[in-house]
Amino acid sequence: MRIPRHLAIIMDGNGRWAEQRGLPRIIGHQRGVETVQTIVEESCCLGIEYLTLYAFSSENWGRPRDEVNALMDLLGRYLKNELETMCRQGIRLNVIGENTRLPGGVRRILEDTIEETASNRRMVLTLALSYGARDEILRAAINLAGQVRDGRIALEEIDESAFGRRLDTGNLPDPDLLIRTSGEMRISNFLLWQLAYTELVFTDTLWPEFGTDQLHAALEEYGGRQRRFGLTPAQVEKKVRNSGEGRH
Ligand code: IPE
Ligand code: IPE
Ligand code: MG
Repeated sequence: MRIPRHLAIIMDGNGRWAEQRGLPRIIGHQRGVETVQTIVEESCCLGIEYLTLYAFSSENWGRPRDEVNALMDLLGRYLKNELETMCRQGIRLNVIGENTRLPGGVRRILEDTIEETASNRRMVLTLALSYGARDEILRAAINLAGQVRDGRIALEEIDESAFGRRLDTGNLPDPDLLIRTSGEMRISNFLLWQLAYTELVFTDTLWPEFGTDQLHAALEEYGGRQRRFGLTPAQVEKKVRNSGEGRH
């Protein structure tokens, strides 16, 4: 199986999973956390180096206050519970998004977890929290404009790499594969810059029901894709032959 170096997931469908069963939406989110545990562990075992999970969008702040509070509570508890497992599995925690909007308690647990997992090397787990790609791109643009104004960077020095480094994902490679669960076929303001050449896999499975079998199926689909980056199939085949490997 061809393993993506960086897998990103839009974890969607918790609410509908619960509603279909006549349960409160928050029960769906609780089940969603269990799926996160399964998928993080399996990704690590498969040798994925970077796993990025869309956990809470800038727009999700507009949900009913009870749901937002319950999600923040779940996040704090998840992080506390997982610290030991993350260290055992060699997982380093990373966060992208406008984190200053998160409640103080959650922010502190996040900072502690990031610090305590900083030397882990097997996989980088990035949580997108209070994340919106337009907001991220705007912050990077403002940062660059300020540096130009202050004479710290010349206009001519601004290229894709200089811009990319100023995004929240500055230290991450672009995702190779994006999976979105729950049948919705949209990006919902996730990684707009970084997904330029990412392979997209959509599945009808709701996030609480997404398991290792579904992950393997998505990876199979990814493995059957030819990534051309604007070139012709023949050019890509030649490149793969010359590099002597089928990966990436
Ligand atoms: C994804 O599930 C989790 C978050 C967005 C926080 P949803 O809560 O969006 O579930 P649906 O889409 O309403 O089913
Ligand atoms: C995207 O899901 C955000 C997360 C998975 C955290 P949403 O459920 O918020 O997206 P829309 O509203 O269906 O586009
Ligand atoms: Mg949704």
